[in-house]
Amino acid sequence: MLLPDPNAENSAVADPELTYNSLYLSDFPRIAETFLLNTKQSIHRIPPRILHPLSLLKSSILDGRRVAAVCDIQALPKPVRIATRVDESIRWRRSRRKFVKRAVDLGKVASILYYADGVTGEAKATKVELCSDDRIRLLAHPSAGAIYSIKVYLIAQNVQGLENMIYLYDHYRHVLKRIGSYDSKELIESLTVVPTITVSDASFVLVLVSDVWKVLRKYGNRGLRYIFIEAGQIAENVHLVSRSLGLGSLDFGNYYDKLLEDLLGLDGLSSQAIHVVLAGATAD
Ligand SMILES: Cc1cc2nc3c(=O)[nH]c(=O)nc-3n(C[C@H](O)[C@H](O)[C@H](O)COP(=O)(O)O)c2cc1C
Repeated sequence: MLLPDPNAENSAVADPELTYNSLYLSDFPRIAETFLLNTKQSIHRIPPRILHPLSLLKSSILDGRRVAAVCDIQALPKPVRIATRVDESIRWRRSRRKFVKRAVDLGKVASILYYADGVTGEAKATKVELCSDDRIRLLAHPSAGAIYSIKVYLIAQNVQGLENMIYLYDHYRHVLKRIGSYDSKELIESLTVVPTITVSDASFVLVLVSDVWKVLRKYGNRGLRYIFIEAGQIAENVHLVSRSLGLGSLDFGNYYDKLLEDLLGLDGLSSQAIHVVLAGATAD
């Protein structure tokens, strides 16, 4: 007996408009979107509220139609070879909470970005007919269905040769796209649900942003697990490489989603800040 495809209602090949319209008729519980919208930390300290998850889907569909802006590019040095053994990086890794205000080398930042999220290989597409290119580029971290929904934003606070701005790492070209300037006070406010560490001393902040619908439309509610796992894998790459390059790093759940998403110019629906990592120079 043929079992129904568990992802049938979320087919990646359906036309977005058709998918969106059919959701009105679907009684499929949209718990992944509801969970995401109701677990954001809010500065207004209002209790979690149920937003209609279809707002997320609508926004995602519109987002997919947005014409890409012409971007200002910041070149990055090539990633360096890292001599540290992987067993030593794992053993020595520890969360660091005390950063010192010292500029870090752009080469180190470029290496962290590359080994966390850069293109490290390619595969031949066998099932999907691609118009111009039948190769799929593969990144440093695994990704369910090779969807790679997570984008890495870099907020520079003290990086040599890099203006203090918000950037987006373009893994396909190994460059940074300049997104815009930011107000330091607003950044600190967005990263201070509880004042535990001096965030302004970190040399840079990485924000892992997922285009959640790219995953949910294929895997349904289960896709949310995959998004979180992927974010964790990117973060661990950041920690191990940072440690090997003599920098400190810290996973950081202590942020107000909306404030941070506003700072990055995200709608907080189709693109959501899933995780934050602080990194920089430490005293020892
Ligand atoms: C998802 C996640 C969020 C975290 N958020 C914070 C945080 O907001 N502040 C903090 O000081 N540490 C944070 N941590 C770090 C943990 O406290 C730390 O990993 C744990 O104490 C174990 O210590 P170790 O990383 O040095 O081995 C976070 C870790 C994870 C995985």
